[in-house]
Amino acid sequence: MPDAVPDPVATQPVVAPLTTAALILVATIEAGGEPAVRDVLPDLAAFARGIDFRMPGAGLACVTGIGSDAWDRLFSGPRPAGLHPFRELRGARHHAPATPGDLLFHIRGERMDVCYEWASRLLTRLDGAVRIIDETQGFRYFDHRDLLGFVDGTENPVGAAAQAAALVGSADPAFAGGSYVVVQKYLHDLTTWNALSTEEQERVIGRTKLHDVELSDSVKPPNSHVALNTLTAPDGSAREILRANMPFGSFEQGEFGTYFIGYAADPDVTEQMLRNMFLGSPPGTYDRILDFSTAVTGTLFHAPSADFLDAPPPPPTLSGTESVPQPASAPVAQAPVPAGHGNGSLHIGSLQESAQ
Ligand code: HEM
Repeated sequence: MPDAVPDPVATQPVVAPLTTAALILVATIEAGGEPAVRDVLPDLAAFARGIDFRMPGAGLACVTGIGSDAWDRLFSGPRPAGLHPFRELRGARHHAPATPGDLLFHIRGERMDVCYEWASRLLTRLDGAVRIIDETQGFRYFDHRDLLGFVDGTENPVGAAAQAAALVGSADPAFAGGSYVVVQKYLHDLTTWNALSTEEQERVIGRTKLHDVELSDSVKPPNSHVALNTLTAPDGSAREILRANMPFGSFEQGEFGTYFIGYAADPDVTEQMLRNMFLGSPPGTYDRILDFSTAVTGTLFHAPSADFLDAPPPPPTLSGTESVPQPASAPVAQAPVPAGHGNGSLHIGSLQESAQ
C-alpha cells in the first residue's frame, strides 16, 4: 500500500489574480475586543462563499492577516516563526516607518460592491471590537499601470512559483499554507515625477514605459527599482515575493499613490528588498523610486491558512504574558469607527444572517 497522501492545507486566497478593485483595511483591536475577533475568524470564508456563489465571476478573494502583538492577544500556543513587528528603516535619504496594525483585510474583486459587502459583513460582526485605522480603495489603472504610469506586476511569479514564493512550506509545519504580508502605503509626488522625461523615468524603474520591457543590464542603473528588487539566493535561485499592488487616489486629500502588498513565504525576502530600497545595495545606492514616492505606513502580518482560521487555537491564558480576554461587549476605551449596522449595506452578501 502506498503511503496515504496527507490532506493539503487549505490556504486563504493569497495566490489570486490581480483584480479591478481592492479594499484594503488595517485595523487595531480595541481592549476587550479579542473574543469578537476570535469568534469571527471561522466565518470569514463563509462570508465570501455567500457573496461569491451568487456573483460568479466577481473574483472575490479576501485574505485576513494578523499582526505580531495581536497574535499573542488572540491565541495561545506557538507563533509563526517569522512574525515580528515591522522593522522601520532609516536610510540616508528615505524612511520606511513602522505603523500600527493588528488586523489586515485584503479584499480583492472585479467589482467594488462585492469587496464592500464582505467588509460590511465582517465589520458588522466586529462592531465595537476593532477600529479601522487605514482604509484604501484601490483600482486598476488602465493596463495594470501604477500612477507613475508604469505597468506594475509583470515579473510576479505565477503558478507553482507563486505558491512557493508566497506560502509557508515545510520550514514551519505548524503554519504551512500561511503567508507573511507586508503592506506599505506610498504617496507619489506626481508633479516632480511628471516633470521627468520618459527616458529618465525608465531609468528610475528599470523598464520601458510604453511596452514594459526590462532595460538591458548595460543600461539599467544600479539604483533602479528593478535592479534593487531582483534578489538571488547563494545557490543562484531567485528570491521572490508575490505582489498585489494597487493604485489609489483622493483628489479631496490630494493623495495619489501605490498601496504595496507583498506576500512571502519568508518575510526576510521582502525585508531584504526593503533594505535594498531604503538603505541601498551597496549602502547608499538607494532606490530612486523613493525620490518620488514616500512610504507613510508599514506593517507586517501573518495571514494564516484557512484551516487555522476555521479552528483557531485557544485564547491565551492568565499564566502567559498575554492580555486577559474580555467579553466583546465590554466598554471600550475609544469609540470605534462605526461599522456594519446602519452603514447602508443591503446585507445581501451572506447566507448567514442569523449568525449576526
Ligand atoms: C512606490 C511603490 C512601488 C511602485 C510604484 C512599484 C512599481 C514597480 C514596477 C512598475 C515594477 C516593474 C514591473 C513589475 O515587474 O512589476 C516593479 C517591480 C518590482 N517591485 Fe515594485 N513598486 C513599488 C514598491 C515595491 C516594494 C516596496 C517592493 C518590495 C519590498 C517591490 C518589489 C518589486 C519586485 C520584486 C519587482 C520585480 C523585480 C524583477 O524581478 O524584475 N516594489 N515595481
